[in-house]
Amino acid sequence: MTGELSPIDKAKFVAAKRAVDYVEDGMRVGLGTGSTAAWMVRCLGEMVRDEGLRIKGVPTSTRTAQLAREVGIEVISLDEAKWLDVTIDGADEFDGDLNLIKGGGGALLQEKIVATASDQMIVIADVGKEVETLGNFPLPVEVIPFGWQTTRALLEEMLISMDVLGREVTLRMNGGTPFITDEGNHILDLHLNRIGNARQLSMVLNQIPGVVENGLFIDICDAVVLGFGDGRVEVRDINEGTVEQDRIDFVESDNLFADLDD
Ligand code: A5P
Repeated sequence: MTGELSPIDKAKFVAAKRAVDYVEDGMRVGLGTGSTAAWMVRCLGEMVRDEGLRIKGVPTSTRTAQLAREVGIEVISLDEAKWLDVTIDGADEFDGDLNLIKGGGGALLQEKIVATASDQMIVIADVGKEVETLGNFPLPVEVIPFGWQTTRALLEEMLISMDVLGREVTLRMNGGTPFITDEGNHILDLHLNRIGNARQLSMVLNQIPGVVENGLFIDICDAVVLGFGDGRVEVRDINEGTVEQDRIDFVESDNLFADLDD
């Protein structure tokens, strides 16, 4: 089955497979959203089923919640968990300080709340997500629907004084209608090309009325598990200052690799 996976899917899978080593029996685990995080949920489900791992999972979106239940993970709310041992999630971009852009899948708000409420956030990514400077991936900003065009105008005005290369702001669509997040909000994508000062931009964005949260994750991620299409993984821990190389052997498992459509 793995022979049918593209190199990028193999990279995502091996990153996920290595990252679940952070999960121990009895932990409360934040479950990220996206195609890489879906591999991680599948891997955890396999550990629950085959190894008797007992965990409680806090999903970051309705689709992750659905997948987690399907694979047999006990799902609880963040308020039930109160605090999490670890969150494992994907990213759209990460830089050398392990600062991130997230929200390509539209789940940045729950993802940021859950990651912030965790002892550790582990990011799983294929090598294409690594950048020198954040900003090539459009920065998602979640805004409330009320007056969103006014919020967009305020954003555009604010961007004039920011250290960015592009300033186009687009409303994310889902077919012919605006995309709606799990919290009932819209997403504005900021096409900035290069973000000179991500920390400053994140703070300024969240001062604008109508902005709920932005997709910059600053000082939240503790380690990145980077996957490669040939099975290699690299674990970069920002707190320990360590870089470890590892290799994941593929084991065919129809349950794990079937029907993954995220
Ligand atoms: C979801 O809102 C995002 O933050 C995802 O975590 C991010 O877009 C990475 O997704 P992929 O793993 O599908 O690239």
